[in-house]
Amino acid sequence: MEVQNIHDIVIVGGGAAGLRAALAAAEKNPKLSIALISKVYPVRSHTVSAEGGMAGVMRDDDSLESHAFDTIKGSDFLADQDAVEFFVKEAPREITDLANLGCPFSREENGDVAVRAFGGMTTKRTVYAADKTGFYLLHSLFERSLKYENIVRYDEWFVTRLIVKSSRCIGLIALSQKDGRCVAFSAKAVILATGGAGKIFKFTTNGNIKTGDGMALAYKAGAALKDMEFVQFHPTGLVRTGILITEGARGEGGYLVNKTGERFLQRYLPSKMELGPRDMISRAIISEFEAGNGIETKDGLAVHLDLRHLGEKKIDERLPLVREISQEFAGLDPVKEPIPVRPVMHYFMGGVHTDINGATTIEGLFAAGEVACVTINGANRLGSNSLSECLVFGRVAGERAAMYAETARQTVPESAVMHDEERRLDDFLAQSGTERIALLRTEMQSAMDAYAGIIRSRDKLEKGIEKIGELRERFKNIGLDDHSHVFNTEFIGCLELESMLFVAMAVLESALRREESRGSHFRSDFEKRDDERFLKHQLVQCNGHDMIFKDAPVVITKWPPQARTY
Ligand code: FUM
Repeated sequence: MEVQNIHDIVIVGGGAAGLRAALAAAEKNPKLSIALISKVYPVRSHTVSAEGGMAGVMRDDDSLESHAFDTIKGSDFLADQDAVEFFVKEAPREITDLANLGCPFSREENGDVAVRAFGGMTTKRTVYAADKTGFYLLHSLFERSLKYENIVRYDEWFVTRLIVKSSRCIGLIALSQKDGRCVAFSAKAVILATGGAGKIFKFTTNGNIKTGDGMALAYKAGAALKDMEFVQFHPTGLVRTGILITEGARGEGGYLVNKTGERFLQRYLPSKMELGPRDMISRAIISEFEAGNGIETKDGLAVHLDLRHLGEKKIDERLPLVREISQEFAGLDPVKEPIPVRPVMHYFMGGVHTDINGATTIEGLFAAGEVACVTINGANRLGSNSLSECLVFGRVAGERAAMYAETARQTVPESAVMHDEERRLDDFLAQSGTERIALLRTEMQSAMDAYAGIIRSRDKLEKGIEKIGELRERFKNIGLDDHSHVFNTEFIGCLELESMLFVAMAVLESALRREESRGSHFRSDFEKRDDERFLKHQLVQCNGHDMIFKDAPVVITKWPPQARTY
């Protein structure tokens, strides 16, 4: 194995958080050498599929206090309030900076950046670029990154291991997909910005690349993961495919109706209706299904998202992607027909435990974006806070890593570690067992849908743990058909599956321990929130082979927990 890649900072992940971190580090200190490693070409990162917008206080009649409280209430009081206060203060600056980079935000008639309503927010504070916000945001950041000669890109490289020496992260090992070369990178600081792990579920809005690589890398290196039980289900996934139908559709005035044509949310969230938080709307839809009010489709039960009253002009101007997706993937035109939707796995609130500066529990290792858990999202994220979070905490992680790298020493990884990893990968590649990747992946996804979905219980979670345990055993007997080194997607799929099985187990074990219902985590055997026992974060760490759980306090600054009604 080679060790020829030496950088001050290595960033893993080329989406919004990774690119923002790279720009921040490059601006902080132009002398730093910054590597940006991504398993896909950066503009194909999952940020590209973000639709509805990003939240930030942009109007005089809005306030930071209001954005903070909405976020904390939305989180079911599990967010760390110091982090939320910092986040809402910094988000407007990120939006302005992005507009200055050329991001073509939709505008009001007077030229101001336009804002739309989003779930759980008391006022309109979500800026957007039609319903393709992630696409424009990602391209704006990527184009700006091209300006910096000290940002060196490694596109289509897959990171297989973090190197930790004396409790400090000193680099990593990555595989060039183009030719199968395995290379050690020496770094003073490493930033994980690899996104979430939505593909552990079958019905998800997440692209195939969302396989929890960063969470698994951090966990295996000994870093703590936090609040892994909190998985968000978005209320409106297009039936059959799970493609996201943006909350922006309801922000623009769309209705959700059951089989009798009733806007059923009047019975669940009378003051918010379609603009309630995602956890509550998703559960309301499941209750409608259970009450026999779901709409039968050839792809299972659904409710209807009705946009017809918005009219063609508004739909084309504000929601062109919703129209295109409905036409392409459901064969219907939302101008004339309602869209069949059902709740779909969308986002990880939990992730690699960081402090407010993006620092993990391992010195020199930082994390930002969906892979990280700061946490501003607690038990349930409000829609449109995530893109802002990627930018705010991507910048912070980039700046902090730059400051750290200015004084940290460069350590060359030991050859024993490199050879050990090379051997592990060679063994994987040579595997000729009888288990197939696709089958194990499908079984894992079905188990997670069945046992770790919107309604959980001890019984279901224990079944899930047993199943994932069985799959991890079977994984040892995996067989590859492709043993070559050039763009071996089967091999990458194998490494991704290994990560997903780790993450799936962390979700299930964490969910089993939380014997209460809070935000997205609903237990039919513990239906109430229990602040006495569970107003706390759960950290999980790897101790050799076992998962070790620890508690951490929730930071409350000025909003004591209260009943969460809308
Ligand atoms: O519905 C949406 O556009 C999703 C936004 C988000 O998850 O923040």
